[in-house]
Amino acid sequence: MSESTSQREQQVKAKPLPRHVGIIMDGNGRWAEAKGWPRLEGHREGSKSVKEITRCARRIGIQALTLYAFSAQNWTRPPTEVAGLMELLREYLIKERAEILDNGIRLNAVGELARLPSQVRDPLEELRAVSAKNTQMVLTLALSYGGREELVHAARKLAMKVEAGQLKASEIGEQQLAAELWTADLPAVDLVIRTSGEHRISNFLLWQSAYSEFVFADALFPDFRSSQLLDCLEAYQRRERRFGQVGPAVRAP
Ligand code: IPE
Ligand code: IPE
Ligand code: MG
Repeated sequence: MSESTSQREQQVKAKPLPRHVGIIMDGNGRWAEAKGWPRLEGHREGSKSVKEITRCARRIGIQALTLYAFSAQNWTRPPTEVAGLMELLREYLIKERAEILDNGIRLNAVGELARLPSQVRDPLEELRAVSAKNTQMVLTLALSYGGREELVHAARKLAMKVEAGQLKASEIGEQQLAAELWTADLPAVDLVIRTSGEHRISNFLLWQSAYSEFVFADALFPDFRSSQLLDCLEAYQRRERRFGQVGPAVRAP
């Protein structure tokens, strides 16, 4: 790590930090295509960014980091790309296991996990179980994830409770719905970052991002490293969050 990066980390640490950062990791394919390489090479390089920014977030003291790695809609990509991504995910879970455990990180996952092949689900469930008591940071992988799918799942859960007589329809409020989301145990997402210059949410944390700050980075994800993460955190720290209020209630992040 360069001296200036470590100095910047100290400066970012000294100001109010987002408790929960979500990253839409986009642009791997374009990164590879620009070099005339297969798209999978972009995903491979992107996994190096994952390692670096996870380390950086942990050092700074971010409590929760959620990485959008594979959307429910990404299953419609060509089978070779999907298979390559699943293989990379498996490699990631196996290779990063020790680092995750050594750093007190709790590994978590959200999404339609049953759709994942066992080559991914098995190491994922194992790491989730062994890291369950870690408290330094929660690293959530959004896998086969979709915000709409999550809301449909939550609605169905609530309907089942009503059907079973455990809940009245009139008792359903924000809290009851949030409790059925896959993210129920995570704090609200304060900052959503999207890389690659695209300005859209693509089905990420729809409910949870109601009052998030959004920062869009031009870097393609394989080029998104500690320095770019620090740029986004600094941008967040310059914002004023309002939550619909005015006057003294308005607060810095
Ligand atoms: C993000 O990169 C990774 C996944 C969605 C799995 P992309 O694969 O979407 O890369 P681009 O957007 O086509 O460049
Ligand atoms: C969003 O990226 C999903 C992930 C980063 C995992 P996409 O590349 O799939 O999104 P669109 O197609 O540009 O909206
Ligand atoms: Mg993309």
